[in-house]
Amino acid sequence: MDHMADTPPVTLREITGDTVRSIVGLEVAEHQRAMVATNGLSISQAYFEPKGWFRGVYAGDEPVGFVMVHEDPDESEYFLWRFMIDHRHQGNGYGRRALELVIERVRTLPNATRLLTSYVPGPGSPGDFYHLLGFVDTGDEDHGELLTALDLEG
Ligand SMILES: CC(C)(COP(=O)(O)OP(=O)(O)OC[C@H]1O[C@@H](n2cnc3c(N)ncnc32)[C@H](O)[C@@H]1OP(=O)(O)O)[C@@H](O)C(=O)NCCC(=O)NCCS
Repeated sequence: MDHMADTPPVTLREITGDTVRSIVGLEVAEHQRAMVATNGLSISQAYFEPKGWFRGVYAGDEPVGFVMVHEDPDESEYFLWRFMIDHRHQGNGYGRRALELVIERVRTLPNATRLLTSYVPGPGSPGDFYHLLGFVDTGDEDHGELLTALDLEG
C-alpha cells in the first residue's frame, strides 16, 4: 500500500532555543530505553563535542525524533551516535526517511566511505531496522553493542 500521499515530508532541522524543549520532550517506548540515551543527555554531550552534528527530526512541522552523528573526516569516521523516533510517531516510515537523509548528507562529506553505528542486541533492538536499510554487521563489538556499517562507496 502506498502511504506516501498522506505522509508529511521528513526534514532534519537545526535545534534552537525555541525548539530545544520540544526535542528534549521526545521519548522512546519504555522497553526501548536501554537502546538510546535521552535527548537531553545527547544534546548536553553535543555541547562538549565539536565533532557532533545533531538535528531534530520533523514530520511536516511536528518534531518526531532526534539524530546525532559523530563526524571525523580526518579519521574517515562517520558514526551514527544517537538516533530515535518518539514512540508516538514510530511505525510511520519517519525513521527510515530520517536515516536516508543522514546518509545523503554523510555521502557529501570528505573521506566518507561508510556510516558506522552500533546497537544493543536482543528484544526491542533496532538491529533489523539497520539491516533493512542496508547496514551489514562488521562482526565487532563495542561495550556489548554490535557494530554495523553501511558501505557508501558501492
Ligand atoms: C529504530 C527506530 C528509530 C525506527 O523508527 P521508526 O520511525 O519506527 O521506523 P520506520 O517506521 O521508518 O520503519 C522502517 C522499517 O523498519 C522496520 N522496523 C522499525 N523498527 C524496527 C525494529 N526495531 N526491528 C526491526 N524492524 C524495524 C519497520 O517495520 C519498517 O519496515 P517496512 O519498511 O518493511 O515496513 C525507532 O523504533 C526507535 O527510535 N527505537 C528506539 C531507539 C533506538 O533503538 N534507536 C537506535 C539506537 S542505535
